[in-house]
Amino acid sequence: MTSQSTTPLGNLEETPKPDIRFPSDFVWGVATASFQIEGSTTADGRGPSIWDTFCATPGKVENGDTGDPACDHYNRYRDDVALMRELGVGAYRFSIAWPRIQPEGKGTPVEAGLDFYDRLVDCLLEAGIEPWPTLYHWDLPQALEDAGGWPNRDTAKRFADYAEIVYRRLGDRITNWNTLNEPWCSAFLGYASGVHAPGRQEPAAALAAAHHLMLGHGLAAAVMRDLAGQAGRSVRIGVAHNQTTVRPYTDSEADRDAARRIDALRNRIFTEPLVKGRYPEDLIEDVAAVTDYSFVQDGDLKTISANLDMMGVNFYNPSWVSGNRENGGSDRLPDEGYSPSVGSEHVVEVDPGLPVTAMGWPIDPTGLYDTLTRLANDYPGLPLYITENGAAFEDKVVDGAVHDTERIAYLDSHLRAAHAAIEAGVPLKGYFAWSFMDNFEWALGYGKRFGIVHVDYESQTRTVKDSGWWYSRVMRNGGIFG
Ligand code: NOJ
Repeated sequence: MTSQSTTPLGNLEETPKPDIRFPSDFVWGVATASFQIEGSTTADGRGPSIWDTFCATPGKVENGDTGDPACDHYNRYRDDVALMRELGVGAYRFSIAWPRIQPEGKGTPVEAGLDFYDRLVDCLLEAGIEPWPTLYHWDLPQALEDAGGWPNRDTAKRFADYAEIVYRRLGDRITNWNTLNEPWCSAFLGYASGVHAPGRQEPAAALAAAHHLMLGHGLAAAVMRDLAGQAGRSVRIGVAHNQTTVRPYTDSEADRDAARRIDALRNRIFTEPLVKGRYPEDLIEDVAAVTDYSFVQDGDLKTISANLDMMGVNFYNPSWVSGNRENGGSDRLPDEGYSPSVGSEHVVEVDPGLPVTAMGWPIDPTGLYDTLTRLANDYPGLPLYITENGAAFEDKVVDGAVHDTERIAYLDSHLRAAHAAIEAGVPLKGYFAWSFMDNFEWALGYGKRFGIVHVDYESQTRTVKDSGWWYSRVMRNGGIFG
């Protein structure tokens, strides 16, 4: 492994004090997700997930890519953790694959599946890296989808059972948990636009799914809190939510109303129930033609809001919307999530004309500042963590190095925005770069690279990109230089 003094960016430990310093207890981390990195999709009794099925359906995933081999992390986790340690990672946000634990989504757990995460957690702790697991990062056991998926209320109860199994096994060593990753994607990309697994296009089902995902969070969090209490341990439970700033394209009333509608569907549909135990009234009115919300039962909102200790923010870009089709754009509203439309009729997403990443996503760090300050204003005192932030670019390995200056610029500008938010009083407590390494980018397959570590999928060689060395210096020194 490369020694500190010979990194492409010089000696990481002997750098002067950073110019922009974060609080000394700020959590510095990297993030990944099970289906995106593990591979070994049939090993040790793992059952199929909705993403295995989706990948096997022609035309759904670019290039016919699947969850194998991914980064072969299931077999290489020790080396990956060693590399994290070398980079000075403080915390590792990974996800646990439900189908490894319960191949059918219910019933007796598979010991080998639990053993894998047990070993991973021990390995992290030995390396001095804090484990930050996410219980659900989109790999629903296919059997549960066959029984109706997230639009089916029973899935929330199954999720709580699964959470209990995992917590009983790992809870003695872990404090910080996220239940769900980006429930917006699970609900709207999975069940409305269908661009993600399970690929259904049923707007009413998407809204029910959003509710049942949050109910699953609430039921799971209650069980975990209870078990932690019995063991005299503290536990902190959050949701990694893809909150973003939705900007009206112009100041016209039509555009401002479009932004309000999309903000309700993208942001407030989750934050209001989770934090305040209520649904936004304007949202219920906007989607009245789609659903009457009769899937909400007495007590649900109390359950959903009872146990949220922190909010994760996965931030990539803000979006601009217009209520006027003549402003161009497409009907593919933020990340194509509302098509076919769910209460978003006559709204188009508009290209702001900014530089973009390889995903075509506009680069605007002020969107992160606005997202954080808005959350802090709406929900004062709730600790916030940036649970994902990063960018895909066209990386090339040249002579054993990846000179990804654009990614460094992206991370640098977003960390500056995060720091400015802290200065403005936002209780932002940590930052996780997405992603530790290149991985399976869902419907776009392996073509899009978000890692600060490059992965050659054929040889499984890891190459730390310049951004990885850069971020290593940031983590080690607790701030940004220059
Ligand atoms: C958010 C998701 O949580 C993650 O799985 C995905 O790879 C990144 N966004 C980039 O699209």
